[in-house]
Amino acid sequence: MTTVIDDVVGRESRHVLQTYRRQPVTFVRGQGVRLFDAEGREYLDLLSGIGVAALGHAHRGLARAISEQADTLMHTSNLFFHPLQGQLAERLANLSGLPRAFFCNSGTEAVEACLKFARRYWYTKGEPRAEFIALEESFHGRTFGSLSVTSDEHYRAPFEPLVPSVTFIPVNQPAALKAAVSVRTAAIIAEPVQGEGGVRPLTPAFAAAINETCAKTGALFIADEVQSGLGRTGYPFYFKALGLKPHLVSVGKALGGGVPIGAALVSQDVADTISFGDHGSTYGGNLLACRAALCVLDELVGGGLLAHIGRVGPHFEQQLKAMAARHSIVKDVRGGGLMWGLELSCDAAPVVPAALERLVVVNRTAETVVRLLPPLVITETEADEALGRLDAALGAVGAGA
Ligand SMILES: Cc1ncc(COP(=O)(O)O)c(C=O)c1O
Repeated sequence: MTTVIDDVVGRESRHVLQTYRRQPVTFVRGQGVRLFDAEGREYLDLLSGIGVAALGHAHRGLARAISEQADTLMHTSNLFFHPLQGQLAERLANLSGLPRAFFCNSGTEAVEACLKFARRYWYTKGEPRAEFIALEESFHGRTFGSLSVTSDEHYRAPFEPLVPSVTFIPVNQPAALKAAVSVRTAAIIAEPVQGEGGVRPLTPAFAAAINETCAKTGALFIADEVQSGLGRTGYPFYFKALGLKPHLVSVGKALGGGVPIGAALVSQDVADTISFGDHGSTYGGNLLACRAALCVLDELVGGGLLAHIGRVGPHFEQQLKAMAARHSIVKDVRGGGLMWGLELSCDAAPVVPAALERLVVVNRTAETVVRLLPPLVITETEADEALGRLDAALGAVGAGA
């Protein structure tokens, strides 16, 4: 008998370009932190579609906002004004302290925009600096510019030559940063918490070195908050917790709660160097995406979600660390808020199917790290239940390691 999964996998294998190695599960419905597969099994989601479904699945307010907007007007292009883009830019400015926003459709586009705006800044100043400083273990996306500042050779090699003049330095080593940054540096780019690289927060000392070198050389700083931003770590933006002073910030993922939208947030200094036509996007900041993002920000700030993360985050951390202590294969627990990584002493890949078998969704990154990015609405009870299932999965993997 052919199952739904056989049918889905069969059709995809014939017609979908094979760029993703998927887990053999077909999700068809969600509710809060729960996902349901085609066979009716109920899972707890500790991944949120890689940090996207911040409000959980099938959030009533978000669904209503999207549906009302789709019923009214979805898209008119950036050739005309509409009422929502300015509202969203204003809200992001209040949260980030960066007064202007450019809207796009994904994280990589947000980074791409930041890189272009940094180059444009120096070009306008009549001092065309081209060089970028990026970090080892970084991930900024897969379009040419973003890939050029992403360190992993595996992603880069088949597509070289990439954008030239990028230097990678080791993360959290202030001396290496100071040695690399000069008056030829257009911008330093870093994730305040490296996500794909294994959930590695920047240290306060490294953050201070970034501020210092930027002040000394004039180099701009781009904070890539695509994964760490908008409540994920318990802060609207983690750069603030670190005392970083970015000139540009990229956001994406959680911003639309599942509707594709990204943004490059820029300082007034940078904004002053940008002209009409310098950058653009057909879809960027359309009514549907802006309406979704406004709803997410409503929940995050006015709706008390940030305060909720402030309560649930420490509980999650405590339970996670207690659970990790029971497994000799767990070497380290890193993160903050609701963004966590468990570094294992072995490949973390087998944990993913072992967890799925026990009806909890997690992800492996950087080979040895189990990454947890639950929906930000997760409750303490749901966290306990999900971590209990992960405990069993780690036990099974550990027994075979
Ligand atoms: C820090 C960071 N920047 C950029 C990206 C790229 O985002 P997208 O996949 O939406 O293009 C990601 C995706 O994982 C990310 O984690």
